[in-house]
Amino acid sequence: MKRFYIETFGCQMNVHDSEKVIGTLEQRGYEQVHTAEDADLVFYNTCSIRDKAEQKVFHRLDQFKREAGKGKVFAVIGCVAQQEGEKIFDRAPHVSLVAGSASYTKLPEMLVQIESGDRRVTGLSLETDETFDTPYTRRDNPHRAYITIIEGCDKSCAYCVVPFTRGPERSRTSESVLNEAGELARAGYTEIQLLGQNVNSYRDPSPAGFNFAQLLEAVGRVEGIRRVRFTTSHPRDFGRDIVEAIDRTETLCNQIHLPVQSGSTNVLAAMQRQYTRDEYMRRIEWMKSARRDIAISTDIIVGFPGETEADFEQTLQLLDEVEYDSIFSFKYSPRPNTAALALGDHIPDEEKGRRLTALQERQRAIQLRRNTRLVGTELEVLVEGFNSSTSQWIGRTAQNRVLNFTLPARNGGEQPGRREMLGRYLPIRVTRAGPNSLAGECAMLV
Ligand code: SAH
Ligand code: SF4
Ligand code: F3S
Repeated sequence: MKRFYIETFGCQMNVHDSEKVIGTLEQRGYEQVHTAEDADLVFYNTCSIRDKAEQKVFHRLDQFKREAGKGKVFAVIGCVAQQEGEKIFDRAPHVSLVAGSASYTKLPEMLVQIESGDRRVTGLSLETDETFDTPYTRRDNPHRAYITIIEGCDKSCAYCVVPFTRGPERSRTSESVLNEAGELARAGYTEIQLLGQNVNSYRDPSPAGFNFAQLLEAVGRVEGIRRVRFTTSHPRDFGRDIVEAIDRTETLCNQIHLPVQSGSTNVLAAMQRQYTRDEYMRRIEWMKSARRDIAISTDIIVGFPGETEADFEQTLQLLDEVEYDSIFSFKYSPRPNTAALALGDHIPDEEKGRRLTALQERQRAIQLRRNTRLVGTELEVLVEGFNSSTSQWIGRTAQNRVLNFTLPARNGGEQPGRREMLGRYLPIRVTRAGPNSLAGECAMLV
């Protein structure tokens, strides 16, 4: 019973939770394997943000229906686990453990129960003021590390399951965050991504009493850290002090993700987002008037109940006004427990699809235009990988753009090895631009 497999769905919070779950399991003598077939214990860390995401775990479980009673243990954790709870045992009787993220601190005890043969173990309480702050985290990427600073969400956006699946907001102490950042820097990590569903409502529970901008700046000052990013910001709580911190501190990446969801104040009100289009645009102005050139990205939902053609047109216009560097866009998906369920879901799927395509086409042209402006400039990238089909190295800029690049030929034209290249910071001259990435040449001999 010592080999485990884990598959992760959903957002970066889930990816990072899995790193902590893996660390916790390894610390107890379990060994990670890379197929469910080879494992004694199979974990699915699930996402419930849209119906499609939720269905994925049930498809996976269905594939293993025949395994019921054959000794393989299935565990469903994460947001679907929290949302569906014990109903998962009925739908998939071969599942033995169902636990939401607010219960992961109890994972070692739950594992003891599993090891002693218990076949219906649950961790579903949301009444917690703890964070999953474990010393055992198994990170895959040796250069970039996630740090959770706040868990849960106290907002009540009408479409969103997260407050139900991740419980109330709990902030970590600044001391614990800064200790982890320091340890990561000493271990050779150079980039840190601070995570939370709403990082702006971070409130340091320790006497230092940092707010988010203060914490961000302190992480940016940790010796050895060259890049700090954060996600996600909520416009209602987003303060100008964050832009000022970015302007003052070069290590803070000039990149902000600020989900707008809709360009129509009426739709925003129906979504219970607690800001108007004008208030959102004021925050965009803060970013645009900054000393540094800040890349801005967003999330948009199309087809929310009541969204008229005129509302949607306002979202398209917002794209033109802001000129985002990238967007994530989704068709509205009705979710259990949420307030918007009462509004119905009257916009047909084809119409949602039409709006989504129109939105993405508009944005594609904007991105191409913005990326083309970068041709001829020199940007610093962190080297992330090598694409053997194109023989290009893959880098990422401070503004979070992918920049694929080649090296100037050195003696005989051979490539340096991956070990020599990955994790390095290199200056790249941009030579070509597409809507989703840039291409260039390294501006120095390596
Ligand atoms: N905490 C973050 C992210 C939440 S989930 C925030 O507040 O922005 C990521 C994105 O999924 C959201 O920004 C939203 O655009 C989208 N999303 C959430 N619920 C959805 C739903 N029911 N249907 C479609 N998209 C949804
Ligand atoms: Fe969901 Fe809103 Fe919380 Fe984001 S802020 S997680 S969209 S409820
Ligand atoms: Fe999905 Fe849960 Fe994240 S619902 S998006 S995994 S917080």
